[in-house]
Amino acid sequence: MSPPGLIFAIESSCDESAAAVVARGDHSLSNAVASQIAVHAPHGGVVPELAARHHLENLMPVIQEAEREAGVTIAECDAIAVTAGPGLIGCLLLGVETAKTLAVAHGKPLIGVNHLAAHLYSPLMNEPGRLGFGEGDFAHPYLGLLVSGGHSELVICHEPTRWEPLGQTLDDAAGEAYDKVAKLLGLGYPGGPVIDRRAQEGDPTAFPFPRPMLKKASSDFSFSGLKTAVRLQVEALGIPEKTNGSSEALINDLCASFQAAVIDTLLTKTERAMVRHRLSRVAICGGVAANRGLRAEAERRLAGNRIQIPPMSLCTDNAAMIGGVAWHQLQAGERMALDASARPHWPLRG
Ligand code: KG4
Ligand code: ZN
Repeated sequence: MSPPGLIFAIESSCDESAAAVVARGDHSLSNAVASQIAVHAPHGGVVPELAARHHLENLMPVIQEAEREAGVTIAECDAIAVTAGPGLIGCLLLGVETAKTLAVAHGKPLIGVNHLAAHLYSPLMNEPGRLGFGEGDFAHPYLGLLVSGGHSELVICHEPTRWEPLGQTLDDAAGEAYDKVAKLLGLGYPGGPVIDRRAQEGDPTAFPFPRPMLKKASSDFSFSGLKTAVRLQVEALGIPEKTNGSSEALINDLCASFQAAVIDTLLTKTERAMVRHRLSRVAICGGVAANRGLRAEAERRLAGNRIQIPPMSLCTDNAAMIGGVAWHQLQAGERMALDASARPHWPLRG
């Protein structure tokens, strides 16, 4: 007999095709991901049409891998969960239609999961490699700082399925800013890991880049002006044409100064929100949570609070976090109708 509380989860909202088996909302028995980084790298960003075509090729193999790795078949799971939004419509539709088909074929309930809710839930997953600073257990309520290629959001997480959004990006997301700055410095895609690495070698005070929106009391973010400031500086310095040997050091300084501005902006808004809403627990999640500078600075600036950061495998897009939050939706009786569609725009509501 299979252990109860197993969710089979599928994620395809952007450029990762992923599937996982998750037990009782916090323990993944498998977490399979087919990354498309190599497909999109030559374009410097995700090309939606290419992403959808690759989901078509990758989804079934990744689903079989998740079953194999877990030693559990879909037939033994209690429900099928899928990211229903937000995300790229062509990509979401492939995941949603695949999940519907599996749900009908196996006679299982279908759960439609919000991708942002899943990222915000990911620090609660009981997985090796997660980082925790500060005293006490990590539990609701907490402030969630979600920073990824598509999102920069500050959200109070009251329960797994109850949130209070405080602010979001008005233009570029934090990860998107990393990717665009890397592109203009000729550093390739994705930009986050390489800028993070080069920033360790550079001087964060070399260029006084703006800290966007800090004068405003709102919890919204805006990174497009910062990206423009970096571009103007790059043009003024004549990079990448500069060939006198000093451009590598200059690029390190640009990376360090850009990263310092992003981190300062993110953490200042986070600190303010924690004080304003009297919260002492904070989760940092999404692909940018992998950033070494952000992790170190969060530990320093948010000292005295309880900080939780998921392991790398749960920071970037994955299906384990989808299965985690879906367990709570299943318990609450939520079901996705078989005639419901994907929701490319699906903001979290309070
Ligand atoms: O969560 P994710 O896999 O995809 C979205 O849902 O968007 O995040 C991908 C983003 C990319 O923009 C990538 O550049 C960024 O996360 N990223 C990083 C780091 N590793 C990945 N950004 C900053 N520092 C990193 N170490
Ligand atoms: Zn994501």
